This record gives sequence, C-alpha cells and structure tokens, in this order.
Amino acid sequence: MAAIVSPTQRELDLEHVWHGNLQHQGLEKRPPLEIVRAEGCWVYDSGGRRYLDAMAGLWCVNVGYGRREIVEAVAAQMEQLPYYPLTQSHPPGAQLAARLAELLPKGLSRVFFLNSGSEAVETALKMARQYGRRAHPGQNRYKIIARYRAYHGFTMGALSATGQAARKRAFEPLVPGFLHVAPPDPYRCTFCSREPGCTLACADEFDRVIRMEGPETVAAVILEPSIGGGGVFHAPSGYLERVREICDRHGVLMIADEVITGFGRTGKMFAFEHAGIRPDILTVAKGITSAYLPLAATIATDEVFDAFRGETDDAKFAQVSTFGGHPCSCAAGLANLEILTRERLWENSARMGEYLADRLRELKSPAIGEVRGRGLLIGLEMVADSNRAPLPEPDVIRVQRLIREAGVLVGRNNDTVPGFGNVLTLAPPLTLSREEADAIVAGIETGLRQL
Ligand SMILES: Cc1ncc(COP(=O)(O)O)c(C=O)c1O
Repeated sequence: MAAIVSPTQRELDLEHVWHGNLQHQGLEKRPPLEIVRAEGCWVYDSGGRRYLDAMAGLWCVNVGYGRREIVEAVAAQMEQLPYYPLTQSHPPGAQLAARLAELLPKGLSRVFFLNSGSEAVETALKMARQYGRRAHPGQNRYKIIARYRAYHGFTMGALSATGQAARKRAFEPLVPGFLHVAPPDPYRCTFCSREPGCTLACADEFDRVIRMEGPETVAAVILEPSIGGGGVFHAPSGYLERVREICDRHGVLMIADEVITGFGRTGKMFAFEHAGIRPDILTVAKGITSAYLPLAATIATDEVFDAFRGETDDAKFAQVSTFGGHPCSCAAGLANLEILTRERLWENSARMGEYLADRLRELKSPAIGEVRGRGLLIGLEMVADSNRAPLPEPDVIRVQRLIREAGVLVGRNNDTVPGFGNVLTLAPPLTLSREEADAIVAGIETGLRQL
C-alpha cells in the first residue's frame, strides 16, 4: 500500500490561502515566510531560522512575543465566560474601557469596542457624521477631510479616507464626501521647500479646504499623528496644535487615528501627547492587545457622546458588532496594558528609537535620503541620487529581501502613491534592547552593501 504523505504547510497555503496584498501569480517562486513560533523580538520559520522582527508583525506586537501573562489571562477568561455581546455588559469590557479612560486625557472616556483598525475608523466616521447632524441642526455636516499618503483601513469608508491611489483604484467609486490635503513631508515639501523652515502651510490647507467647502458641510478631519504605512511622516512641531485650532474654529471634529501610534509606539503612550492636544475621537487597535487577540476601539469625548443621548431612538448610535469587545480580547487588552505600564515601554520606545535612528544615520549610505524617527516608528526614505529621486521600487524590494536574508524583517510602503514606494519601515517590539537595535542596523547595512 502506498504511504499517505500529508501535504506540507507550503502546499496547503499555496493551494488555498488568498493572501492580502500579494500577487499570487508565481508565488511558488517567492513563497511567503512560514513563521511557526516567536519569542521576544524574534520569529522562527519552519526551517528553524530566526529573524529579528523589526516590524512587530504588522506594527502591532508592542510588548513582544511570548508573554505568558496574556496567555493565562485569556485562558482564564475562556473558562469563565468565552463570549457575551457588548449590547449587554461583561467584566473585562467594563474594566478595559475604564482603564483606557484612565490612560487618556480627561473627558476622552467613552469607548466603543471593535475588532480591527478599519472598523474603528469606519465607526469614527459614522459617529462624526451623525454627531455633525445632531450637534448642528439644520446643517449637513458630512464631509471628511483626510490627507494624501495616509492609510486608514480597507473598508469602504476607511478606504475613502485613505490617501493612497494604488490601494483604492480597483474599488472605485468609493464613498462620496471625502477630500484630501497634502501631508507634512519636510523632505519633499510642496509648500516650504524654498522657505528657511516649516511654515505649517500644509496644516493651513485644512483651513482653506474647510472654508472653500463651507464649514457647515464638514463633519471631521481625520489624521494619523504620524503617518505609518504611507511612508512614515511625523507631524512637525506645531502641526497638530494648528489643526486642532482650525477644527475648533470651524466646529469640525478632529479624529486621531492612532491604530499604529497608540500604546507607546512613538515614545509616548499616545502620539497626540507630543503636541499636548486632545482629539475629539480616537481610533486604536494593534497595540491595544499587542495583537495577541483582535481588538480595536473608537473612543469619543463626553461631549461627542452626549450628543447621542436623546428621548428617541434616532439619537442613538445604531451600530452593533458581534465580536467587538469580545471578553477574551478585552482580557488580553487588560493584561497587555498591565505589562506596558508596569515596564513603562513607551520610555524604552523613546530611548531605543533615538538610538536606532541615530545609528541608521551614521551608516551614511547614499541610498538613504532621510531617516525619519519618532520612538520606535522609523522610516528610511530610499533615494537613487543626491537629487532625492526615489529609489525605483524593484530596487527597494531587492534591498528589503537582502535585509531579510541577513536575518532582519523590515517593512516597505507598498501600493501607496505612484513612484513613491521607496520607504523602508521599522516598528519593532517596544522591548527592543540595544543589542537588538544593533542587529537591525547590521542587517540593514549588509542588505545595502549588496544593492
Ligand atoms: C493608521 C491605520 N489606521 C487603520 C488601519 C487599519 O487597521 P486594520 O488592519 O486592523 O483593519 C491601519 C492598519 O495598518 C493603520 O495603520
């Protein structure tokens, strides 16, 4: 009798899995990594080779891999109450909402739980539209102003807010009412490249667009305090303060999308803290559980929430999520935040981020046009020459592969703006040690040497 040979992980995968954002034609020649286990900042493939995960999965494993505390909290919750919907109440949901409110500035205290960053953004957009109509009777505030290069998610509303042509064009037409302005990009600024310094003209664009459209038609501005997937652009000094002031002047809500930047990534617990402002609505995901289980949240101020109180049902926020605020995810979130705050990981993020960015600048590679770092969220803008021409995408892909062969996993801003898929991205776990930061630099140096 012939022996039955079980198919390998690779065969099963290539035959059946539809991978996000991957061209499947020819995938067997460049198969995805087969990661089978992980510990700390390191992941291991099916052949036993280890890689330093300088992307923390997808910008999300903030406390690092292998935390037993989270595993045990989830297992205990599974036994106690594996599921109940948040149309009613359960202990980890209430406790995590309260814990988040404690970590946030006063008044930013009403938490709507979801499963993914896209859902959190979708929810924020819906809240903003309904709020606009309730808080400004007789007006029709439905427009949302976002920024080019921003990424806000894959669902139709979040994708409409996204400012990346390549991610959108196959699915157009998208949701009406979304407008975009230029992001802050001092390296290639369209506004102040001839000025001695940043004039915040890009922030003032929000004011211009709101006035041109008519403030009575605008519900909200949405922005990532640091653009992540679009190529890592940090808000310059004064930028968020200026946008906050513009929003206040026009009665427009400010939505901060901190799906990547939340929970220590940029060296503060939340990135808006760098500017000392408070958004009206905040979206978080990823680092809320360090991705041990799916969870996201849309968090509103008391003022926004209060607009949804009313005698009639049409005042309420009519949205239900079966899995949003799953008790096991909330238990993971509570254990994760306990680790994050006990170990003050945002401080290590600030410290190691500065060290890593400095060491990358010291490489003095002509292919690195700029190193953009804030905490452990770092972008390397790759260039072809001293005139800042972007390094062609095939070369960027090749460097990324060479760095991987050297044992370090870095990201890349693929499918964003035509011609500008030239930023390598770093977002390692916030537990990163100095030796591990050195290992990232060594991997990048080795990759660049072979370019
Ligand atoms: C800023 C931002 N918003 C929203 C999302 C969407 O999150 P998710 O992939 O969990 O749907 C992402 C994903 O990377 C993101 O970076």
